[in-house]
Amino acid sequence: EAPVIVAIGGCVRDLMSYSERFPKPGETLIGTNFVKGYGGKAANQCIMASRLGTSTAMIGKVGDDDFGHQSKENFKQNNVNAEYVGITKDAATSVAQITVVKDGQNSIVYIPGANDCLTVEDIRSAENDLIKKVKLMILTYESISEVILEALKIAKQHGVRTLVNAAPVNPGVSEEIYPLCDVLCVNEVEAEVETGLCVESIEQAKSATQMLLKRGCFSVILTLGPRGAVFASEEQPQAIYIPAKQVTAVDTTGAGDAFLGALAYFMTQHSSLTMKECIERSCEVAAISVQNLGTQKSFPWRKDIPAELFS
Ligand code: RIB
Ligand code: NA
Repeated sequence: EAPVIVAIGGCVRDLMSYSERFPKPGETLIGTNFVKGYGGKAANQCIMASRLGTSTAMIGKVGDDDFGHQSKENFKQNNVNAEYVGITKDAATSVAQITVVKDGQNSIVYIPGANDCLTVEDIRSAENDLIKKVKLMILTYESISEVILEALKIAKQHGVRTLVNAAPVNPGVSEEIYPLCDVLCVNEVEAEVETGLCVESIEQAKSATQMLLKRGCFSVILTLGPRGAVFASEEQPQAIYIPAKQVTAVDTTGAGDAFLGALAYFMTQHSSLTMKECIERSCEVAAISVQNLGTQKSFPWRKDIPAELFS
């Protein structure tokens, strides 16, 4: 049986330090805890979808080092098909140095490494046996721009829906991608870079989604962290605001990825739900993740989630 979802983008080893506050330049701050976790936006999203109960596959690159081999093993532990996660000798496995402070906010220094070694040929070699058989492609901006464009073109050729997360900001990505996005998802910062608009208020977020729609995306989600999200589509161009329930965050790392992975799950497995309903439910999954420490470590499994979310 072919997987339902394929994710293309980053596999990262997250090196997470917890402290009261962020260090100042030049300061040595004593932290409270250090953990190694698994991350990468595409890998996180893929694993979130898998934990909710969809069959998934990952296309990516890791280095021929401990972190890389551990990452491949982690996919297996999460029931993700990692046959197309290649191992390169040309770079080290990507890492992210993450600081998380008391209120759950974080700052991240991300070192691309092997993620940048994923090639157009790697994507093409997965076309027949994988990409053309899935229902949905998750794609992040963690790959080089040529790979991003080629992956989306191949998906569209085969009628595969595309869920594109324009993160992290990647200035090399061509304007050609907009019409290839069934769903484009950005946060406030990414929306500001994409549109040049200021995105603080809900009204400003709505304007930004309108601009992105005009570039040819079929639909646009602008996530607003704890406030929820704004959504607009070609079918319903008037943007709507979808609020999220308020929770107390301890670690927001990867919350956006929990949201996107859950969204991929609901879009493919609950096709009777509207996008608004899919977004509401995905916000609930993300809210669970921010109340627990870690990135993937905080992503719930299906059994940890109230059953009504799946009805
Ligand atoms: O979105 C969060 C992810 O981005 C982390 O897991 C880290 O790997 C960073 O690249
Ligand atoms: Na978390």
